Amino acid sequence: MAFFAATGGVARTWASRARAAACIVVDLSPAFRADADVPLVLPEVNPEALAGFARRGIVAVPGPSSAQLALVLAPLHRAAGVERASVVTLESVSGAGQKGVEELEAEMRAMLAFQEPPPPTALPHRIAFNVVPQVGPFADDGSSEGERALVAEVRRLVGSSLRLAATSLRVPIFYGHSQVVNVRTRRKLSAAEAREILRTAPSVKVLDAPREGVYPMPMLAVNDDAVLVGRLRDDTSQENGLELFVTGDNLRRGGATTAVEIARLLFERHLSLP
Ligand SMILES: NC(=O)c1ccc[n+]([C@@H]2O[C@H](COP(=O)([O-])OP(=O)(O)OC[C@H]3O[C@@H](n4cnc5c(N)ncnc54)[C@H](OP(=O)(O)O)[C@@H]3O)[C@@H](O)[C@H]2O)c1
Repeated sequence: MAFFAATGGVARTWASRARAAACIVVDLSPAFRADADVPLVLPEVNPEALAGFARRGIVAVPGPSSAQLALVLAPLHRAAGVERASVVTLESVSGAGQKGVEELEAEMRAMLAFQEPPPPTALPHRIAFNVVPQVGPFADDGSSEGERALVAEVRRLVGSSLRLAATSLRVPIFYGHSQVVNVRTRRKLSAAEAREILRTAPSVKVLDAPREGVYPMPMLAVNDDAVLVGRLRDDTSQENGLELFVTGDNLRRGGATTAVEIARLLFERHLSLP
């Protein structure tokens, strides 16, 4: 078995070589996430899909924003049927890799020393002391790649009947992606009920005592394998509406941890060590 954690191009080149060497690939890149012949697997949400690895010998790991949202939406969907959700993501610069991290650091150092920051190369604009409403290239319909991928992947993981709107923002934070999520369910689900459902959901931690200053923040999510959810409240502007805030470690929960859990599941259910 090989874990691929490079670019999509590298994954496409090496996947067939791995196949030829009877090596199963767990790929963290976006290369195969939309490929119908490759299962997209989040072990807590759709472990049964893993059986499809045999078709091409590849398992795709969902992107960090998709994994984070699916972990929270799936239990709510099972309980009350999520009809529609709308999400605004606040994505850290490490989502653009090490180059994104270095770019924010260089810009911050320069600006705090009252110097002109270097021109951006990894991100489309200066990210220090800024918010950039672009994650990846835009399509003709005005959506960014990050937004399209999030919608497609969450529907693949949670259910194709789910209607989802997304806006992806890049924010000047090094690690940890956050999401403002609005949900409409088929059956009425109060904020209190939703909180109880999420308390028992796998890889989800509820942090929701706002008056005591207890709520999810990237600062708390970093180095945690669970996704943090809080600020749960009824959205009274619509029937069966809920409002919530989610944060997660984009490197762990959003990638590395999921890849390792997929490997564990593969060996438990489908493979045996020689
Ligand atoms: N960052 C996230 O939040 C996140 C979360 C989930 C999934 N992912 C996905 O995971 C992949 C890696 O992301 P990242 O953030 O870690 O990017 P990154 O910081 O740019 O790191 C990419 C790594 O891949 C290595 N690499 C490049 N070509 C290679 C090759 N041919 N063989 C072996 N290694 C090679 C690079 O090595 P050198 O430095 O030596 O070139 C580098 O260490 C991407 O596909 C990304 O979409 C990222």
